[in-house]
This record gives sequence, C-alpha cells and structure tokens, in this order.
Amino acid sequence: MREELLKIIPELNQISDPELREGTIKCFLLACEEGGKRPRDMTEMAFTALVETEVSFADKLRCVYHICVRTAEAMNEYMTDAIPVNMDILKAGALLCDVAKLIEVGRSAEGGWAKTRRGKLVRHPFSGVGLAMQAGLPEEVQHIIAVHAGEGDLFPRTPEAIIVHHADFVVFDPFVKDRVLRD
Ligand SMILES: [Fe+2]
Repeated sequence: MREELLKIIPELNQISDPELREGTIKCFLLACEEGGKRPRDMTEMAFTALVETEVSFADKLRCVYHICVRTAEAMNEYMTDAIPVNMDILKAGALLCDVAKLIEVGRSAEGGWAKTRRGKLVRHPFSGVGLAMQAGLPEEVQHIIAVHAGEGDLFPRTPEAIIVHHADFVVFDPFVKDRVLRD
C-alpha cells in the first residue's frame, strides 16, 4: 500500500521533516483503510462529486499541491519577512486537505462514485481532522484541513491555510457553471 501510494503521489517525498512526512503518509493509509480504498482508486475517483469531470482525485490533489508550493515560493522570495510561509506544513496540508474524501466518497450502485452516508453526515474537512489527529500530525496541519473549504470562511486562517484554500478554489471554480464565464 505504501509503495503504491508513493508512486501515485510522489510529492509526499518532498516533505523534508521525516516525522511530518511519515505522519502524512500514515494519514493517507488510514484514510484508505477507513474508506475501503486502494491508493490506485485515487486515480479513478473523480475529484468532486459536485460536477461532471474526468479529472481524477489524484490529479487535482497534485495540481493543488504544486500551485501551493509555487505560490509560497513566490511569497518567500518576494515578500520575505512580511508573510513567511512554512513550506513543510504547507506541503502536508496541501496534500491532505481532501484526504477524507477517501471516506466521503464511495462506489455508487451504478458503478460510479457518490457521497457515502458517512460523507453526508460528516464532511471531509471534519473527518480529515480526525484522521490527522490519529496520524499524530501537528495542529497547524489539522487547521489547514479544517478550514480549507467553505465552512473555514467562518474562521481566521494561517497564511499556509489561506494558500491552500485559494489553490483549492482556483482549480474548483472553473468547473462550476455559475462561477465561470466561458464565452
Ligand atoms: Fe475539500
């Protein structure tokens, strides 16, 4: 499972702190276990059940990760002391913000993917924090997962969480009919 996971999300190897890297990997494996998934399911699951798309969960997750890293690199380069960004915390949070979708989404009766009963009751920002706690991840990472989506608008976010939140919507909004102007 671990090897398969690292093959699908090689970015996990870019977290420099070994404890944080291991905790992040553990969190993915816990999510797979609880959601009854193999890491390879991430390449088949659509990234959202809310719109029709071919983009997989893994592709979206990796895209959000790279947007976050490049954004933070620019901030650290051009705004050095004004808004310092902790790259490792950002990397773990960016990879894990949607980890609990592995629990929230399951196979539908028609063979596609749909929200599970559990996912309808407890959305992935909440179940994701639960997984991060079980994996022993720091509160800064739990925070990113907790506030990355719409419900997080109710709370102040750390700079790392602001980046993840916006990156998440940068790749989501263009798929939502009433949020995008195409012609
Ligand atoms: Fe999300």
